[in-house]
Amino acid sequence: MLGIEHIGINENFFERGGNSVHAAKVCARCRTQLGVDLSIIELFEKPTIAAIAAATRDRPAAAEDGITKYQGAAMTLTKFDECSLVTDLVEREGFKLRRLGIRVFPKNDLAIQLVDGTEPDELSVMAQRQNMRHFAAAPVKIVAFAKLLSCLRSRPLVGGWKYRYASAGSLYPVQVYLAVHREPVDANELMRATYYYDPVEHSLWPLVRDAKLDISMHAMINRPVFRESAFSLFLVSEQEAITPMYGGEALRFALLEAGMMSQLLDEVAPRCELGLCHIGGVDFEPYRELFRLRKSHVLLHSFLGGRRAESVAVKSSGGDTEYVEEIIHIN
Ligand SMILES: Cc1cc2nc3c(=O)[nH]c(=O)nc-3n(C[C@H](O)[C@H](O)[C@H](O)COP(=O)(O)O)c2cc1C
Repeated sequence: MLGIEHIGINENFFERGGNSVHAAKVCARCRTQLGVDLSIIELFEKPTIAAIAAATRDRPAAAEDGITKYQGAAMTLTKFDECSLVTDLVEREGFKLRRLGIRVFPKNDLAIQLVDGTEPDELSVMAQRQNMRHFAAAPVKIVAFAKLLSCLRSRPLVGGWKYRYASAGSLYPVQVYLAVHREPVDANELMRATYYYDPVEHSLWPLVRDAKLDISMHAMINRPVFRESAFSLFLVSEQEAITPMYGGEALRFALLEAGMMSQLLDEVAPRCELGLCHIGGVDFEPYRELFRLRKSHVLLHSFLGGRRAESVAVKSSGGDTEYVEEIIHIN
């Protein structure tokens, strides 16, 4: 990993060339190969093999401690906040760098290296699909919404209908609601109101005029994004449209569908000069009436959006991908 043959047990990992990425790899390997839970912060504090060994000798195996705890959280989402969450900013960064979502296999196992199958426009689509936390001040025209929502349209097919994404049993229970936050400046913009998007007619049904979503519905970290945004999108499942056929699996299936819809929106937004920011948690309950929702409607996901302020260009060098942040102001 460090490109050196030998390291003494009392030698400082960082003085021998280790950096934060190496540290994250060490933590990941400690976990998968030795069953030891070592945090990146700890490695910074105790950067020698001797010090780490002394500190972790009596530590319970990682599998008993961490994994089962988080398994519980993944199984029942509502219990998520009962786990001790990583909240400290530095620890969160360290946790991210450990990339626990990527499995690590023993060194002597052989992986089959796949050839580079990158499609010509793949890297630019990837670079353009970006979670945007800043938006341009210019207003969003109706035509931009029309282009964006077009990816969620239902098209007629002999004896049925077709969408760009899949749905269990072709039921398509996930609905799209739009809230426009700003007053229109000209006739090409939507009035401030809430809307239901009809995917069959490709039309917006105004629900409540002058509806106001309050900033307090957002977590502190997302409030600056809300201030700059021009609209919100909400993906809401009509559970009555799926539960009779899928019972206890209905919510999971609807969530999968919302995920596919989100991917489409993410990829199409740059082409409409729009930016979207995923919003994972929002206090939606007080606003249900603004969208004329019934008890059977469940919020699955939401976005804040606005005119795209910048885009990211991607440069490919050989097999490696190098991202070049390039601010292109559209307005
Ligand atoms: C379920 C989910 C919830 C998210 N919630 C938020 C959020 O509340 N605020 C935010 O700024 N980004 C949120 N994101 C966006 C991620 O932070 C973002 O996708 C990630 O940093 C990767 O960046 P990229 O999408 O630009 O590649 C969320 C993404 C997902 C899939």
